Amino acid sequence: MNPHMEFNDKTISTNLGTKIFGGKVFFFKSIKSTMDYAKKLAEMDEPEGTAVIADYQSHGRGRFGRIWKSEPGENILMSIILRPTIPLEKFGILSLLTAISVSEAIEKNANVKITTKWPNDLLINGKKFCGILIEASIAVDKGDFVILGIGINVNQTKFPKEIQDYATSLSLATGKIYDRTIIVQDILRSFETDYAELNKSKNFNSIIERWKKRCDMFGKEITVIYAGKTITGKAIDVDEKGLLILELENSNIIKLSSGDVTIVK
Ligand code: BTN
Repeated sequence: MNPHMEFNDKTISTNLGTKIFGGKVFFFKSIKSTMDYAKKLAEMDEPEGTAVIADYQSHGRGRFGRIWKSEPGENILMSIILRPTIPLEKFGILSLLTAISVSEAIEKNANVKITTKWPNDLLINGKKFCGILIEASIAVDKGDFVILGIGINVNQTKFPKEIQDYATSLSLATGKIYDRTIIVQDILRSFETDYAELNKSKNFNSIIERWKKRCDMFGKEITVIYAGKTITGKAIDVDEKGLLILELENSNIIKLSSGDVTIVK
């Protein structure tokens, strides 16, 4: 399938000032999912930092097999190929890092205060406007790679009834229309700097601290849906691998690597 150029890959790739991210950008007016296309590219040895961007996805997906719906031409739908040098068990940190990079890039463009919900949802006024999906592949002979998917509600102002109470966009939150190209450029730049730090860091304390500053769930009672079970407890912290530390009602401490969090009180 040939990428159909849409919101202009020349504009996005020009003068980015990055060495890795956005070096190659593939655009589609419409695609099933940028995740699948980026995975194919990674299997064909396309380099780290290659981005696949679409104006519309017919089969966009979110975490836990959910559907990610987005109106055509309104939002940012992007997948990026990563070839991280950190060990597989530390990939949880990638979620936190992406959440910070994207938040900082967006706050440069929009007058909003972005908060994080573990592991990698981004919220404005308690409503989700950005989701991050990380899919790791162990490719024999081709090296391990990760596809980082980022979906950002930018200019969409109408959402299906069933998610209206939980979803928002930059436009809904601020009453303005945003240039998606500029936001994508800022994300690629911000990610390039943060990702270089991740690959060379021995510990991830500074990344975790930056992420925690944006997160208001610590000390609160939360529920986490994890492996089909609902677990209730107090959110204590995240550890050096990005795992959530939860104190259960019986005072036992557990660590979770993923899950769907709701703040109870
Ligand atoms: C989530 O469940 O919060 C993660 C949503 C991730 C959506 C993005 S949009 C671009 C990329 N392509 C997909 O099919 N999904 C991710």
